[in-house]
Amino acid sequence: MAEVVIVGDAAEAGALVAETLADLIAERPDAVLGLATGSTPLTTYRALAETVASRGLDVSRVRGFALDEYVGLPPGHSESYRSVITREVVEPLGLRPDLVHVPNGDPATIVTAGDDYEAEIRRAGGIDVQILGIGRTGHIGFNEPGSSFGSLTRVKTLTEATRRDNARFFDSIDDVPTHCLTQGLGTILRARHLVLLAFSAAKAEAVTRAVEGPLTASVPGSAVQLHPRVSVIVDEDAAARL
Ligand code: GLP
Repeated sequence: MAEVVIVGDAAEAGALVAETLADLIAERPDAVLGLATGSTPLTTYRALAETVASRGLDVSRVRGFALDEYVGLPPGHSESYRSVITREVVEPLGLRPDLVHVPNGDPATIVTAGDDYEAEIRRAGGIDVQILGIGRTGHIGFNEPGSSFGSLTRVKTLTEATRRDNARFFDSIDDVPTHCLTQGLGTILRARHLVLLAFSAAKAEAVTRAVEGPLTASVPGSAVQLHPRVSVIVDEDAAARL
């Protein structure tokens, strides 16, 4: 059963999750963080950067794994998740860039990229805390509806709805990639602690279906119900239908 915490706003959620992550880093300086992109975890990353600085935590050995990446964006594209993770996490926290991994969305190596990423996660000893947002289609990572609960990192086709939602980060929807590499639901379920964040009324239905609805591949987020340690941190609007 997930622990559900309803907070006032995204800033409060960020402060709460940052405290948990900072405690983990203090206890385990080589902690492995599972990093989500999207707008939802940004308050967490900002609060964590402040907490790391104010507590003087040593983050030189902290490791990270991003959940997903677009396929085929040119290297250095500002909206590739490699760039986003560098900008929002690695630089503000002062992490070592070579210890923070993002799936490789280069089409030339795409056939082996999923297995390579799984091997890297295994070598790191697994992910301690996986931060998750949720898409309006109920996706976590980029596991769109229909994703198998046992799936591992692999290429997926993005739904039209997700491409539309993410078009705000690009000049037009035509610039949003059609494919991605994403940790699978099986990969996500192997993390030792899942922290699912959601804010605003737009997420209320996805949150309810993920946390309380039937376990179904039509709502990939419902996979979190299979995990023994899940914290769901939501604002009142996202919690409205729970
Ligand atoms: C993207 C990401 C997900 C994220 C979701 C929600 O598609 N791949 O990891 O959870 O969108 O995005 P946002 O947090 O911006 O609402």
